[in-house]
Amino acid sequence: MITNNLYKEKYRPQYHFSPEKNWSNDPNGMVYYQGEYHLFYQYNPADVVWGPMHWGHAVSKDLIHWEHLPIALEPDQELGMIFSGSAVVDKNDTTGFFDGGEGLVAIYTTHLEREEGPLQQQAIAYSKDNGRSWTKYEGNPVIKNYGVEDFRDPKVIWHQETEKWVMVVACDDRVRFYNSPDLKEWKYLSEFGSELGSHGGVWECPDLFKLPVEENNKIEVSNQEKEKWILQIGDQQGGEAGVSTQYFIGEFDGMRFETKEEKSYKVDFGQDLYALQSWSDMPEQRRVWLGWMNNIAYAEDIPTDGWRGMMSIPRELSLRKTEAGLRLIQKPVKELHQLKEEFYHQKNIFLENELSISCDLQSYQLKAELEISDESDLSLALHKKDEQQSLLNYAGKTNSFRLDLSKTGVVDFNKNYLKEKNINRISSSKNLILDIYVDQSSVEIFIDDGEISITDLVFPEKDSNEIKLSVNNSEIKINKLNIFEMNSIW
Ligand code: FRU
Repeated sequence: MITNNLYKEKYRPQYHFSPEKNWSNDPNGMVYYQGEYHLFYQYNPADVVWGPMHWGHAVSKDLIHWEHLPIALEPDQELGMIFSGSAVVDKNDTTGFFDGGEGLVAIYTTHLEREEGPLQQQAIAYSKDNGRSWTKYEGNPVIKNYGVEDFRDPKVIWHQETEKWVMVVACDDRVRFYNSPDLKEWKYLSEFGSELGSHGGVWECPDLFKLPVEENNKIEVSNQEKEKWILQIGDQQGGEAGVSTQYFIGEFDGMRFETKEEKSYKVDFGQDLYALQSWSDMPEQRRVWLGWMNNIAYAEDIPTDGWRGMMSIPRELSLRKTEAGLRLIQKPVKELHQLKEEFYHQKNIFLENELSISCDLQSYQLKAELEISDESDLSLALHKKDEQQSLLNYAGKTNSFRLDLSKTGVVDFNKNYLKEKNINRISSSKNLILDIYVDQSSVEIFIDDGEISITDLVFPEKDSNEIKLSVNNSEIKINKLNIFEMNSIW
């Protein structure tokens, strides 16, 4: 329970995770263990800009409400700062750290500033008390730098078929795979990607997991297509402005990642979703991830006060055979329902010009199921007050969207902040589903049940008091329109 004015500041998200104060970036060490979801994060405890990186720490029982815990890992003289990484449950005590029992192991990058340039290596630490205290392994680093400047962000998984730990780690313009019986001795296996995918800048923060293809799909799926491996990788300068995140769909045999498609797809069509990481060891084989909601190109300039950096909502992942082929699907997790209170609903009406909803909520979900046509030209205005608005347009002719944030509020805090973007829709269905999560300084737009996600930071100057849905030239049918207030988690 937060008792002072924390979490009431301007722009402070009400249902997204953010540390109490100071700078945060990537989510790290995400693991589910004994009823708790752990979320560690890149943290500078001394300032609101990037600096000496620590692992901040929080836990949750439901993925939604978070309890802050003390810093888990601090920089040291010998190996330097604690950069991004992951965590696993060592169930069979493969490490020997747990006297035959089990416990948590974190695998992370150490970053040492030196005159001749930084040194990045991979290290481990373990916890015998559910992540409350950590011991760095005396044999660190477990993988020494092999002569590259950028060698970081290990994500480790247990590979059942080969009965080994597998690490995917970013190295400049590619990822490398290693395996290990005990998380201490690592063997280099293969590399991937120097000639494939997006290469605007260095690669960072990979993730690797297997996903089932959604059932009940109208499009037939052959047996070999029932599950696929996803390799997700951040490209530090792959976006129209700054970062972007891509994924490859392929096969992984414990040694090597292969893809037939020879190309990657975008995880998100906004600017502000990066360094995503999925939880290890989740119950019911669910695969859920979240990302740092920000962009390295302007992260230090966003106009927040006392804190800087937040996470996206957790998203449940699957694969769907879409009209364009297999695609990663991201849906807001069902756990978010507990925060929702119905504010507005409407169904089965025809809209000829506009529908104006007086709505002074600043943290809400809007879900619309619309029947559209090739002639449809519709726009949804959020954050409305006087001149202020965020505009999402859909044009039936091109089956595409345009998001215009130029009048949302503060947009000139950095020249790289991108105010307008065009996004092609995948589905050609006449039923369009928009599922939009708005918080004090963010919008997350999910189109057609998770086929497209658009994640952006916004800094409205005024509290909005209206939402407007309008159509030009031809009517549409609103099958359903719901707005839910999202209660604060703090
Ligand atoms: C991505 C990143 C990682 C690195 C960390 C340092 O945002 O650059 O590659 O480990 O941030 O804070």
